[in-house]
Amino acid sequence: MSTTADELREEVRRRYAESARAVIEGAESCGCGSGSCCADGATDEGKFGEALYDAEQRGALPEAAALASLGCGNPTAVAELREGETVLDLGSGGGIDVILSAKRVGPTGIAYGLDMTDEMLALALQNAREAGISNVHFLKGVIEQIPLPADSVDVVISNCVINLSTDKAEVLLEISRVLKPGGRLGVSDIVADDRLTEEEQAERGSYVGCIAGALSKSEYEVGLEAVGFEDISVEFTHEIADGMHGAIIRAVKTTDPLAKGLPVVQAAERAGCC
Ligand SMILES: C[S@@+](CC[C@H](N)C(=O)[O-])C[C@H]1O[C@@H](n2cnc3c(N)ncnc32)[C@H](O)[C@@H]1O
Repeated sequence: MSTTADELREEVRRRYAESARAVIEGAESCGCGSGSCCADGATDEGKFGEALYDAEQRGALPEAAALASLGCGNPTAVAELREGETVLDLGSGGGIDVILSAKRVGPTGIAYGLDMTDEMLALALQNAREAGISNVHFLKGVIEQIPLPADSVDVVISNCVINLSTDKAEVLLEISRVLKPGGRLGVSDIVADDRLTEEEQAERGSYVGCIAGALSKSEYEVGLEAVGFEDISVEFTHEIADGMHGAIIRAVKTTDPLAKGLPVVQAAERAGCC
């Protein structure tokens, strides 16, 4: 029997709830890169989590926030955040990138974290409190339906979450909707070589472990272009498995949607993305 999108999302939610509980209890957490359940093993050394942040960034975080890091990159290092900006982190987990972003945008800026898992939201709130940060807001919801108005965000970041979505075309459309014209996207994610088939990808890792559901490089490029992004780049940073990479995805939302023929409703899907 095939797994439905709802079942898959519930599996993802359960997995990351378990992971948040493990951090709170001081046990080994698991996330991207480990097996299909938390007991299957720890994340690969150096390819996921806090090892991807420099010593200065780790020093600025409560220990629990650093330990809760389950990402596959460091989006705050590429997003070039400025004082006063509004930032949104999709799938904010234990809050590491929200806390770092809040420090960068300062008291006149805002950092939003969006996550669907109650246990992660509780952990993130606890970490933000411990970090003494007040310009953060954690929102409960799904990245396929972002609970923020259109044109309200300067920068969208995300760390190893888009690959977990069961409707990636909708996520890209939502990112485009909430960003202001000229707003930036700076995302870390796992990305597949275009040469890999779906089956080959699934052989390399599970869906909840961030591998089987990852977009390919050209799916990302086509999908972002279809929803009105320019200056798109997908840069591989480190290999996770044969043909699977940690990657940085950057793009800028067009300032001229009419010239681009937008809104392009469901254009990413039509273009064969995701
Ligand atoms: C791999 S963890 C990454 C957490 C965080 N970004 C980090 O770097 O530590 C994935 C996070 O995304 C959340 N998530 C997964 N799919 C989601 C969805 N469709 N909508 C909202 N949150 C989602 C999970 O609850 C989990 O907290």
